[in-house]
Order: sequence, then structure tokens, then C-alpha cells
Amino acid sequence: MRFFEEKRREVMKHIEKYMLEKMHEFLKPIDQIWQPSDLLPDSTRDTFFSEIKELQESAKGLSYDLVAVLIGDTITEEALPTYESWLSMVEGVDKDEHSGWMTWTRHWTAEENRHGDLLNKYLYLSGRVNMRAMEVSTQYLIADGFDIGTGTDPYRNFIYTSFQELATNVSHRRVASQAKKDGDTLLSKMCGVIASDEARHAKAYKHFISKIFEVDASEAMIAFEDMMRKKIVMPAHFLREVGLKVGQTFGHFTDAAQRLGIYTAVDYVDILKDLIEDWQIESRTELNEAGEKARDYITSLPNRLLRVAERMKNPMLEYKFSWIHG
Ligand SMILES: [Fe+2]
Ligand SMILES: [Fe+2]
Repeated sequence: MRFFEEKRREVMKHIEKYMLEKMHEFLKPIDQIWQPSDLLPDSTRDTFFSEIKELQESAKGLSYDLVAVLIGDTITEEALPTYESWLSMVEGVDKDEHSGWMTWTRHWTAEENRHGDLLNKYLYLSGRVNMRAMEVSTQYLIADGFDIGTGTDPYRNFIYTSFQELATNVSHRRVASQAKKDGDTLLSKMCGVIASDEARHAKAYKHFISKIFEVDASEAMIAFEDMMRKKIVMPAHFLREVGLKVGQTFGHFTDAAQRLGIYTAVDYVDILKDLIEDWQIESRTELNEAGEKARDYITSLPNRLLRVAERMKNPMLEYKFSWIHG
């Protein structure tokens, strides 16, 4: 056990070097990146009220399911304090303020923080949302916290974030194109810029895991297998509305996302395939016995999951979210 912990610490020390080195490639300089106010009506202008009117007119065209998915996505973004505290609870990493881990975590959080900020303001102005109900769900999600099966292990943590950033990229990108179809070009643009942030984040986390594979392939493989056996659970899984238990809201949220094709069981498999390719899982031979078993489990998983996905029926059950007016 001691050896295991020491090895983790050693590997993470090695990885933190890349976290610092690559930070400016994966995260944009603060004075150059977009801010929510670049995309929102400016309240200091005389045209403010007419711009809001226009925004509300376009928002009227969004389908019920799309608004529901957008609210779930927004709450997920707004629960950022949970992710930041989870990242700083990880063990086997240097917690010094200037360490690679802590510096990366702060900068990543700072970039992420704009997502919930932008979407929340849009939804507030849109006139479609029961803001109080949404705010209650946000507070619940942060207060409840979540158990996503990573424990405090940095390997599992970065495997999770690699997956999660790819998933949020897919979701925001699809909401963007659906919003465009529904005639809301402003919302489409907002979700588009958020999606491109998520794509950079995914590249970062995937890169960190690639570097771990270079020096500790068997343990990285075993961590990947473990996360896939547990299944990658999105933070939205823990959503809840007033009077409901944790998990009850998620079922309806995921139904809406599946119906619109915004995030489906097939997307889950596609993300898994992307990671398998990126981390060159199939061709890895520098493994111990447990590592080989883990590799074989992972490589056989996409086809198995696809067969399950093909048998899934499109969810028809309509549901009235407390978050949406009318
Ligand atoms: Fe985000
Ligand atoms: Fe992200």
C-alpha cells in the first residue's frame, strides 16, 4: 500500500510539470477570452429593453424539451463549487498554492465559471423559466454533493473529467444547433462558445492521462477499467426538484436529452471510443496481468454497450418540470 501511494505521488509530481507547461495551450488568456457580457444585452444602453424583447421573442420558439435540457445543463455548470472542492480533495498531489495541481484547478475553475454565469443570465432574461425552482435545484445539487466513484484518486479523477468534458462538449454543441433550428441564434452562439471551451478542457485532461500512461500504464488502465465498470455518471444524475428525491429529476432530464438527440446512449459509446483511440488502449502491451485484463475489458466494452443502446426505446413519457413556466 505504501509503495502504491509513493508511486502515485511520484507520477503526479511528474504530471504536474505538464499541467503548468500546457496550461496556456489548453486555457485561454483571461484578457483575450470571451466574457458573458460580450453576448448579453448591455443594460447601460438605450436599446436594452428592445434587445430583451427580441431575446424573449426568439426564446419563445425553443421547444419544451430543449428548455428543460438547457436548464439541466445550466444547473450542472452552476454547481462548479462542488467540482472545485472535489478537485482539491484529491490525494497524492502537491497542494501548495503554486503547485501544478492547484494552479491548474484554479485556472480551470475560473474559465468554467463563465459558463453557468452566461446561461443563468440568458435563462433569467428569456422569460421561459421559473428561476426560483431552478435556483432551488442548483442549491440542492451543490449542498448534496455527489459520489461519482473516483474517490480521491487523481487517475480516476482525470479519467472522469476527460469523459465529462467530452460529454459537455457534445451536449452544448447539440443544444447550439437545436437552438439555431428553433430560431434562437443568440442562444446558439452562447452554447457554441461554451462547447469550444469544453473541447479544450477535454484535450487537456486527455493529455494528462496520456502522460500518466507513459509512466504507469498498468495502474492507468486499471483506473480506466474501474471507472467504466462503475459507469460514468454525470453530475446531472444528482439533480432534484423541490419535493423530489435525488435521481428522480434526472430520469426526466435524460429522457428529454435522449428524445432530442442531445446526449444519447450512443454518444456515451462514441466518447468511450474516442478515449480508447486517444490513449491507444488496444495496442498497449507494457502491462502487468491485471492491466492486461483491464485493457481487454475496455476494448470489448463499446460493442457490448452499442448492442444495449440499439435495444433502447425512445422515451415517450412527457413530464412537467417545476423549472418551466407554462
Ligand atoms: Fe462548463
Ligand atoms: Fe469544461
